[in-house]
Amino acid sequence: MGRTRRVAGPDMGVEVGGVRLPDPVMTAAGTSGYGAELAAYVDLSRLGAVVVKSLSAGPWAGNPAPRIHATPAGMINSVGLDNPGVEAWLEEYLNPLERAGARTVVSLWGRSLGEYARAAELLVRGLGAPGGSSVVAVEVNVSCPNLEERRGIFAHDPDMTAGVVAACVAELAPGGLPVWAKLSPNVTDLVPIVDAAMGAGASGVTLGNTLLGLVIDTEARRPLLGGGGGGLSGPAVRPVAVRNVFEVHARRPDVPIVGVGGVATGRDAVEYLMAGARAVQVGTASFADPRASTIVSDELTTWCETHGVGRVSEIIGAAHEH
Ligand SMILES: Cc1cc2nc3c(=O)[nH]c(=O)nc-3n(C[C@H](O)[C@H](O)[C@H](O)COP(=O)(O)O)c2cc1C
Repeated sequence: MGRTRRVAGPDMGVEVGGVRLPDPVMTAAGTSGYGAELAAYVDLSRLGAVVVKSLSAGPWAGNPAPRIHATPAGMINSVGLDNPGVEAWLEEYLNPLERAGARTVVSLWGRSLGEYARAAELLVRGLGAPGGSSVVAVEVNVSCPNLEERRGIFAHDPDMTAGVVAACVAELAPGGLPVWAKLSPNVTDLVPIVDAAMGAGASGVTLGNTLLGLVIDTEARRPLLGGGGGGLSGPAVRPVAVRNVFEVHARRPDVPIVGVGGVATGRDAVEYLMAGARAVQVGTASFADPRASTIVSDELTTWCETHGVGRVSEIIGAAHEH
């Protein structure tokens, strides 16, 4: 592969988790609204997909303020997954996304297996006939506490992860919707959890969510965020997430991976793809600039052009060749 040969109009299409996307760059759940909020700034149809803020079966109020706080090279949040619920989302937010020409990935969450299954069931019921909407996949946010069995975060345990994924797949697979399991980086070894998710029917994994963190308000002598601890995101977490992608791809090269954490430039996206991700999501960077996801996409395209890469999929896993 010539590194200085310029390639005109590289093919930016990728296959990831049972879906063909025209571009590997998506938004990340919870960082660009529920629907077409970003359409005022970017052409959503140019992105690989828009991933909506996580939805639960019913409405949920989330955590008390303050909910976000700037940290060195990132931010910490304890938004607490507030959302209007699947049915209200279908009524209010899906149409604007379809009018904007976006491919949509719906993110779901719950606090018990039953709540995850119910959210998936309501989605299937609301979407109607398979293939009749812009929804191309469902990303299941497994990083939620299991309130029913009080066994901690679902995504920290392979059996609980498998349970959530299987419950969602049972509802969504008949309608042809692939399920991506969005896993937590706050574990010692991701591979058994990836295996559990894939064994339960996931079509791919999203790696990963925020890192657990805490900021103290030293004047008030208490945790700064209303929810106590929070999740760290942004460039500060990128090397952690890139390593997770690299290690999962090294040990499970056939598992489709979506990489997320601190992507703010095209070069960051290249890093994830070379580590083994087939697509990337842009989260925190969108708070600084709502155009961030399309800027990343444009810079990635330019990188391919200037590095003689005719198809972006050529570089997936390239860092493993050495
Ligand atoms: C304010 C905020 C809200 C988030 N809400 C969600 C959410 O609803 N569901 C989810 O799966 N991830 C959520 N995330 C995690 C992001 O999707 C992403 O995994 C994480 O922030 C790392 O990517 P980034 O560094 O590009 O932000 C949220 C992150 C932030 C900063």
